[in-house]
Amino acid sequence: MIEIKDLDKSFGEQTVLRNISISVNQGEVLCLIGPSGSGKTTLLRCLNLLETPEKGSISIGDKTITFQGKQPTKKQVSEIRRYSGMVFQGFHLFPHLTVIQNVAEAPILVQKRNKQEVMEEARELLKKVGLSEHCDKYPEQLSGGQMQRAAIARALAMKPEVLLFDEPTSALDPELVGEVLAVMKNLAKEGQTMVIVTHEMNFAKEVADRVVFMADGKVVETNRPELLFENPQKDRTKQFLRNLAH
Ligand SMILES: Nc1ncnc2c1ncn2[C@@H]1O[C@H](COP(=O)(O)OP(=O)(O)O)[C@@H](O)[C@H]1O
Ligand SMILES: [Mg+2]
Repeated sequence: MIEIKDLDKSFGEQTVLRNISISVNQGEVLCLIGPSGSGKTTLLRCLNLLETPEKGSISIGDKTITFQGKQPTKKQVSEIRRYSGMVFQGFHLFPHLTVIQNVAEAPILVQKRNKQEVMEEARELLKKVGLSEHCDKYPEQLSGGQMQRAAIARALAMKPEVLLFDEPTSALDPELVGEVLAVMKNLAKEGQTMVIVTHEMNFAKEVADRVVFMADGKVVETNRPELLFENPQKDRTKQFLRNLAH
């Protein structure tokens, strides 16, 4: 489904990703964990071509882009983005649109789909994330947990092959984290392919098929969650997990 090979990404002099290779199978939930600054967000942004790596390749679905110092073409960017939907830490809903308009906007304007059909689907998606009552509200009238669930519905509206999440619960008050994780768990159960950057280790243990531990721009260790958390192989992983326990 996704194949990342030998990816390098720098900002100026600073190398932020070094030789990253990761694959994600269809229906798999991959959680990315690691200390702040290890390159997790940059990696997700590369997957959606919000950043351009200098080297390596990314394949999603049947599209492959090889990076060699050139910007990808517009066509390549839109082809790759068709396959993935992104959910950000800060929700990024359009404030001037209602919840249902937020969900329906891209399918209507970008995919040029039939408006009535899209609105019906949007209503279904909002039901699925528990927001049936809130379709016609504006984002500012919602709690953070509701906004993030609306953002998930919006990403799903494009029918992406893979959903990318960047710390989707870290901007939320603690009592609102559970409702967002519950929606994500349901998606996992339905077989939605997901790559999730998270600090929620219990969630990762429960939901991930595999966990990737990153540090200093490198993949340190990848394993099934029960093995990575209970029996880490690398010192760097052990140190990270020990620090979390305090
Ligand atoms: N747009 C940018 N310009 C310059 N440096 C950046 C930019 N984005 C991220 N960085 C740097 O890249 C490193 C990795 O950042 P990031 O991918 O956000 O890590 P993480 O998500 O794991 O905390 C950090 O040192 C950060 O300061
Ligand atoms: Mg980050």
